[in-house]
Amino acid sequence: MFFMLRKAFVRHYLIKSMKSFKPNEKIKDNAYIGSIEKYNEIYDYSIKNPEGFWAEQAERISWFKKWGKVWNWDFNKAEISWFEGAKLNACYNCVDRHVENGFGNETALIWEGNNSSENRKLTYDDLLREVQLAANSLKDLGVAKGDRVCIYMQMIPELTIALLACARIGAVHSVVFGAFSPDSLESRINDSECKVLVTQDAGVRGTKTDIPMKKNADETLKNTPSIEKVLVVRRTGSPTEMIRGRDVWWHEAMESADSLCEPEIMDAEDPLFILYTSGSTGKPKGVMHTTGGYMVYTSTTHHYIFDYKPGEIYWCTADIGWITGHSYIVYGPMANRAVTMMFEGVPNYPDYGRFWEIIEKHKVNIFYTAPTALRALMKEGDNWPKKYNLESLRLLGTVGEPIKEPEWMWYHSVIGNERCPIVDTWWQTETGGIMITPLPGVTETEPGSATRPFFGILPQLVDDEGNVLEGNNVEGNLVMERPWPSIMRTVYGDHQRFFDTYFSRFPGKYFSGDGCKRDEKGYYWITGRVDDVIIVSGHNLGTAEIEGSIGRHPDVAEAAVVGYPHEIKGNSIYAFVTLRTGRKITEKTKSEIAKIVRADIGPHATPEKIQFTEGLPKTRSGKIMRRILRNIASDNVDNLGDISTLADPSVVESLVSERI
Ligand code: WTA
Repeated sequence: MFFMLRKAFVRHYLIKSMKSFKPNEKIKDNAYIGSIEKYNEIYDYSIKNPEGFWAEQAERISWFKKWGKVWNWDFNKAEISWFEGAKLNACYNCVDRHVENGFGNETALIWEGNNSSENRKLTYDDLLREVQLAANSLKDLGVAKGDRVCIYMQMIPELTIALLACARIGAVHSVVFGAFSPDSLESRINDSECKVLVTQDAGVRGTKTDIPMKKNADETLKNTPSIEKVLVVRRTGSPTEMIRGRDVWWHEAMESADSLCEPEIMDAEDPLFILYTSGSTGKPKGVMHTTGGYMVYTSTTHHYIFDYKPGEIYWCTADIGWITGHSYIVYGPMANRAVTMMFEGVPNYPDYGRFWEIIEKHKVNIFYTAPTALRALMKEGDNWPKKYNLESLRLLGTVGEPIKEPEWMWYHSVIGNERCPIVDTWWQTETGGIMITPLPGVTETEPGSATRPFFGILPQLVDDEGNVLEGNNVEGNLVMERPWPSIMRTVYGDHQRFFDTYFSRFPGKYFSGDGCKRDEKGYYWITGRVDDVIIVSGHNLGTAEIEGSIGRHPDVAEAAVVGYPHEIKGNSIYAFVTLRTGRKITEKTKSEIAKIVRADIGPHATPEKIQFTEGLPKTRSGKIMRRILRNIASDNVDNLGDISTLADPSVVESLVSERI
C-alpha cells in the first residue's frame, strides 16, 4: 500500500515537475488532426512537396482564376511570389461566398461594447450589405484599386467593415492602432501617401468615454497632403468639427451609396494591406502583404490551429490595429465562415471579471489572448474567473510574447479547468500568420514552448556567424529557410530596407530577429528579441524611435533605451539619458521627457524609468553597448560581462550606483 501510494506520488510529482500536457481523448477524437503520426505525415509531405501541399490548401479559397506556378522565390533578392497570375478577392472570400452557399443568415460577427449592455450581431447577409455600401462610399470619395486608405479607429464593427470594403475594391488598407498619437499617425499616412482616412468621432475604452479620435486626426491632417477625404463613423455622438468638402459622415455616405458593388478581381500578388511595425531605425516599416498567399495561409492556420468547427464562437482579444487582429479576427476566421467576436473594451473594466463575464455570456468556445493580459488578470486572484461559468471553453491560445510558466499554468488550470489545450503561437507582423505552434489534438504541450513548426514551415537555428545548428539541444538565431504563403513581400516604398532587415544578416535566409532554443525533444522555445525591438504588453517598440523622441527635449544630449522585465507588461522601458552640459537635472525634465514620448508615439511607449547619467557605455568606435545597459536595467549588475572594450569603463560604476 505504502509503495503504491509512493509510486502514485512519484508519478504525480514527476508529471507535475516535467510539466507536459497531453491532449485528452475527447479533443483528439474530434480534432481535424488527432495524432502525432498524422501531423508527422502531413508535415513531411508539406516539406517534401511544398507546391503540392499549398496547392491543395489553396482549395479552401475561392478563385476566379487559378495560378500557373505555386511559388517563385529568391531570398538573395528578397523576391517572393505565391500563386502569381491567379485571381481572387479577399472580401468575396470572407463574405459573399458564404452568402452564396446559403449561410447568409448565420452570425458572422459578435460585437461586445465597452459597456456590456451594448452588443451587436451581424450575419453574413448583414455584412454583405454593409460592406457593399461602405465600398461604394469609398468609391464615391474617389478611392480606386491600388489607392491606400488609412484606418484609425477603435474596436467597433465599422472597423471590420472598413477593412473588408477596402479589400472589395482593391484599395490597400493601412490600419493605425487607435492609441497611436497624431505624430505617429502622420508619419504612417505620409509614408504610404494615403488618399482617404477613415476614423470615428470619439472612442470608448474602459473608463475613458471620449477618446478624441477625430480631433487627433484633425491635428495630423494639417501635415498630410495626400489625404483628400475623411470618412467619420459616429460612435459617441460627441461634438465633432467637420470640415466642409473634406469630412464626410460614414452614415450619410452609406445612405447615399449604391447598394451593389461587385468585388474587384485582384491578382494573388496584388497588395492587400500595409501594417506598420517598429524597426531598428526610427522610421516605422510599412510591412506589405499581398492577397492570395495571405488568404490561403491565414485560413489554413485558423482551421488547423484553432481547430475551428462550424458554429463555434471564436474570440481573439487582440486589437485590429495589430497583425493578430487582421489575420485572426478578420481574414482567417471570416474566410472560414467562423463566428468571430470583437471587443471594444479592456479586461479590467468595469472590473477584473470582464473577460470571463463575456465568455459566459456569449458561450465562447475558443479564446485567444496575450500573456500580458493573463498576467494582469492572474494578479487579481482566482475569484474573478471563478464567479463565471467557463465551461463553454474548448481551446485556449496565446500570442505576442513568450508566455512564462506561472501564467501558462494559471491559464491551464483556472481558466481551462485542465481540460482545454493551450496553443502558444509564435509569429510576427512580417510572417502574416502563425508559424510555430502546438496543434490541439496532437501536441503534448509544455508551458513556455511554442513547440513545433506548422505545415510547410522550416525553421532553423543559426549561430552569429550563420552556421546552421543541427540537432537538438541548441540555441541560436531563429531563421526560416524558405518562404510560406503569407510572408510579407516588401517594405512599402523601400525594397532595399526589406532586404537589409530580413535577408542580409544571414544570406539566403529570412531572419526573424528572435533568439530561440530547440530542446531535446525538438521543441522550440522563443527566448526573445535579439535586435533593438522591445515588446511591452505585446506591443513592438523600436528603441531608435523612442530614443529619437527623447532626443527632441531641448536639454537632452543623448539617450539609450532598453527593456527590463516587468511583472505584468513582460518588459518595461528604461531610459538612460545624458543632458547637455550645464543643464540641470530636475523632476520636471523627467516628466517633460515622458510627455514628449507619449505625444510622439503613444502612451504604450512611455519610459517607466529614466536615469540621468554623465555618460553612456560606448565602444571605442562609439557604439552604445546595450548589453551592459540591459543588465543594469534588469538589476543583473553582477553579470555585466566584459567591459574592457569600452572607451571609458568608469561610466559603468556610476551607472550601477545610480540605478533606479
Ligand atoms: C514575439 C505578433 C514568444 C516575438 C503576432 C516576435 C512571441 C514578435 C510569440 C512579433 C510567442 C510573438 N512566444 N514570442 N508565442 N508571439 N512573439 O509583429 O518576439 O507584433 O518576433 O506579431 O513577438 O510581434 P508582432
